[in-house]
Amino acid sequence: MGLKSKDLLGLENITKSEIELILETAKTMKDILKRPIKKVPTLRGKLVVNLFYEPSTRTSSSFGLAAKSLSADTMNLSVKSSSVTKGESLVDTAKTLKALGADAVVIRHGIPGAAKLLAQTIDMPVLNAGDGAHEHPTQALLDMYTIKEKRGKIEGQKVAIVGDIKHSRVARSNIWGLTKLGAEVRLIGPSTLIPVGIEQMGVKVYNDLEAGIEGVDVINLLRIQRERQDKGFFPTIREYTKRYGLRREHLKLAKDDVTVMHPGPINRGIEISSDLAYGKEAVIEEQVTNGVAIRMSLLYLLLGGSRNE
Ligand code: CP
Repeated sequence: MGLKSKDLLGLENITKSEIELILETAKTMKDILKRPIKKVPTLRGKLVVNLFYEPSTRTSSSFGLAAKSLSADTMNLSVKSSSVTKGESLVDTAKTLKALGADAVVIRHGIPGAAKLLAQTIDMPVLNAGDGAHEHPTQALLDMYTIKEKRGKIEGQKVAIVGDIKHSRVARSNIWGLTKLGAEVRLIGPSTLIPVGIEQMGVKVYNDLEAGIEGVDVINLLRIQRERQDKGFFPTIREYTKRYGLRREHLKLAKDDVTVMHPGPINRGIEISSDLAYGKEAVIEEQVTNGVAIRMSLLYLLLGGSRNE
């Protein structure tokens, strides 16, 4: 059994058993990362290219580390100093990378559907590292892996996602993935930041933080996108923090052993208080570490040959 598609574009179109396979394979990869020599020869001779049109710390560096741990060669195309600045299209850039010997492309782009367009154009695996407000599947997979690792299971867990749901690709991918694996997903935020009709995705919506986190197992906070403030989605950062910023006193409403997550980068003191971000309930650093294992799992499944086994 393997993944059906040559690409990972999102969690909307993959099955529960494919997600479980990715999480299970990541467990093996995490064991490799605990060894003194964190390297296996599985992808020797393969070239993985990072093509990031938007900034990234965690996703780009963990894809690079994941490829290196599997002995693949890596190349980071610096979009700002590439021929993209001379007007070269996304598709032509990818075709050039293919001609240079790339075996897989990891792409982050501001436009929803950019990864899909690439996948339809080039005959090699394309991994979506975030496309506009559409999906960020590897983030959701590492979030799910972390929930399973910390809480033992995903099915039946009550997971609250707090913040700017409307513009969040992390939220969208988490909703697809968590609902497929049987979690109860709650979305919390001001109504201006929650898309109308999102309940059809099988989630519950709350505009009140305290009501939404009542009895939850996991609270996943989204980065408040400060660039949205002048668009009128919320009055001021201070007002947002007052109503939706998570502070220690809120935790008594959730399960005693609640797990606090954040995909990063964090606005400390805005969506989460500083003491909580580094508190015992937070697994933010584990999420980053697990990101390498998840991305190793995906590179292995899409490039390692087991897709056809
Ligand atoms: N969570 C996340 O995607 O972080 P980066 O933007 O640093 O990759």
